[in-house]
Amino acid sequence: MTDSAVTSVEQMRLIFTHLTGLVRTAGLYQANHPQTRRAKEVLYRALATFLDAHGKLTYRFLGDLLIANDRILPRESLVYRQFLDVCQTERGIGTVTFQPGLEEREIDGVFDAFTGGIGPDPAGWLARRRLAHVALGSPVEPQRESGEVVARRAYYGSIEALREIEASIRNREPLTMEQFTTLRTLTSTLLEQILATPGLVLRLASIKSYDEYTLYHSVNVAVISIGLGALLGLPQDSLREVGMGGMLHDLGKIAVPLEVIRKPDLLDEGEWRAMRRHPILGADLLSRMPGANRLPMIVAFEHHMRFDGKGYPFVRGDWLQHPVSRLACLADVFDAMTSRRAYKKALPAEAVCGYLRDEAGKAFDPRLVAVVERMVRTLRAEAPLEASA
Ligand SMILES: [Fe+2]
Ligand SMILES: [Fe+2]
Repeated sequence: MTDSAVTSVEQMRLIFTHLTGLVRTAGLYQANHPQTRRAKEVLYRALATFLDAHGKLTYRFLGDLLIANDRILPRESLVYRQFLDVCQTERGIGTVTFQPGLEEREIDGVFDAFTGGIGPDPAGWLARRRLAHVALGSPVEPQRESGEVVARRAYYGSIEALREIEASIRNREPLTMEQFTTLRTLTSTLLEQILATPGLVLRLASIKSYDEYTLYHSVNVAVISIGLGALLGLPQDSLREVGMGGMLHDLGKIAVPLEVIRKPDLLDEGEWRAMRRHPILGADLLSRMPGANRLPMIVAFEHHMRFDGKGYPFVRGDWLQHPVSRLACLADVFDAMTSRRAYKKALPAEAVCGYLRDEAGKAFDPRLVAVVERMVRTLRAEAPLEASA
């Protein structure tokens, strides 16, 4: 993401916070109270600056998700959940768009819309108010949305949430409880949709990114792990933690230079040493995760261990690898092999199954290899894969 993209996301977040702040003042002060006027001014100024620099700004409310100019804002979706609900169910608002040329008096109309509602005819409401640079739209009926749309949104929301966690680590900021709650909420949504439509596992896991490989790979490993765990009959609470393990398993790769991750040739000794440290580093980062369930930390540490006790990091001979790490291990290899990388083409799922079969009892737990094969056999028939990028 470029610096200007980061700034524009930050601005969109802040403007939304100003909007909710303005609405909150309505419960505390009269419409012409200095406090309300100040909140209107603050919102107007922030909007005018944004519109000057970036053109229009649209916020969409989709159930419990907030989308700003086509970017999901996971943290604000969570923090302002109740506000989003009131907008959609009581105020009749599903979208609000601000256009360049916005006049300060139009903020009064925005205030009235968000505090009093706009009824079933947004266009009529806007025309009566003579708001030329503000557009309001009705909420989308939740039942019109398919499970696949909800799941894809949660997929991209997870990418965003992971990107934020990585940015905090890079900036040496402490990881917050909120960042993990956001990721857990999105993982729950993915999980619910996968349980309702198992075929989503392979369809979602076929979303790949060459440029942001590790982020997309992490969400794919979460999706595949959930799919495998569901086939094993794990309860929903455990599946959520299995998903979190997948999301965070490669967090330690943040310390591996991008050139090494993308290198088309064999890694040299130093590069390989850096690569082999990522499970330890990931576990270390996750051990400092606030209010943590320990499973993601264990999965991060153990996901490159092999069934036969080899692999890395090196541990003593009687080390017992956690069953969820074994599962993540297979999900990891499955996603890596079905992805295109600088040094290899993407393989079809059936070819990957052949490799896993060859390695059953060596690299992988044979019982879990059988579950992967069952997943590919049953879900492939149900959900043909998209071509992977
Ligand atoms: Fe890894
Ligand atoms: Fe991985």
